[in-house]
Amino acid sequence: MIYLDHAATSWPKPPEVLAAMQDYLERAGGNPGRSGHRLSIAAGRVVYDTREALAGFFGINDPLRVIFTLNATHALNIAIQGLLHAGDRVVTGGMEHNAVMRPLRGMEARGVQVVVAPADGAGMLSPAAFAEALPPGAKLVILNHASNVCGSIAPVAEIAALAHQAGALVLVDAAQSAGVIPTELPALGADLLAFTGHKGLLGPPGTGGLVLADTFDPAQLQPLVRGGTGSRSEYEIQPDDLPDRYESGTPNGVGIAGLGAGLKWLLERGGTVREHELALAARLREGLDAIPELQLFGPTDPRKATGVISFTLAGKRVSEIGYRLDEEFDIQCRVGLHCAPAAHRSLGTFPQGTVRLALGPTTAPEEIETVLRAVARIAQT
Ligand SMILES: Cc1ncc(COP(=O)(O)O)c(C=O)c1O
Repeated sequence: MIYLDHAATSWPKPPEVLAAMQDYLERAGGNPGRSGHRLSIAAGRVVYDTREALAGFFGINDPLRVIFTLNATHALNIAIQGLLHAGDRVVTGGMEHNAVMRPLRGMEARGVQVVVAPADGAGMLSPAAFAEALPPGAKLVILNHASNVCGSIAPVAEIAALAHQAGALVLVDAAQSAGVIPTELPALGADLLAFTGHKGLLGPPGTGGLVLADTFDPAQLQPLVRGGTGSRSEYEIQPDDLPDRYESGTPNGVGIAGLGAGLKWLLERGGTVREHELALAARLREGLDAIPELQLFGPTDPRKATGVISFTLAGKRVSEIGYRLDEEFDIQCRVGLHCAPAAHRSLGTFPQGTVRLALGPTTAPEEIETVLRAVARIAQT
């Protein structure tokens, strides 16, 4: 089997991830931060160690500014719903996932003004488009760092500089970039960054987080969920301490243990899989481009994209291509709109969508050649 659906979730996970999760349940199965006994303390240590490793990974000093969530969607909702109020203005780009667009449309119904800076036909966002779209007094700019449809990498630092000049905060959706390309908040100019644990960071589903820059004032961000935190239990109001202000209820300790192991695995290999993916993605793009019936989407320069590649074949439905890749060639990919209708509109592939091949750390060069032969065969028959 050839697994090319790493943009949906990475698979297989490193064996260390499975081992860490088993170990957590066997040896540290208490409720972290709740009780004073051995199992609770051991669980709390695992959660803290992962928090600390993530803080280093995302380039911030204070580990308590890493807020654990269920996934990137949850983190984006904390940020979007917690920051915006009726009358606020927000700018986002034309390559967003519904994890951003749906909460934003929900906020629009509550009186928030949403402006979309268009992407070009290759899925690239430009500082010029943002400069034009930024309304006076904008509160927030939200940017997808790397497209889950065609891999295009946004010039986040340049756009963030413009946003800051205009007095706006910057929220980066790093669901597709964390673990794939560098994602340190200071270099990106991000005030807040949402990540998911189960894709490039190689952790299990049910993990993710919102990272707050050391310079970000949490007083601006209302909690989305309130409840027990194991701290300041004498009060019926939510504590202001980080991360408790945003982390109510028992955390996914076993998942966080796995995420810590995934991150460690990645850090031992340099912190991202960029170099590995770059060569493979370049070969895949070149080979696909040579198939006459095929149309490729996204940037032509592989350095401007991750290993997420979208295409269509003239005269073939994307569902048929995906079905045949799976049934005849045992190749797993994802077809359709990839929860990102806005991105497909920008690329001109709405509503039919595309076939998406998404590389990962375990993808091998010979698999790319097998995929190219399979797609060429489907194109001809
Ligand atoms: C760009 C982007 N943002 C957000 C998400 C949401 O991630 P999750 O499903 O882990 O919440 C995804 C998932 O595919 C994504 O690709």
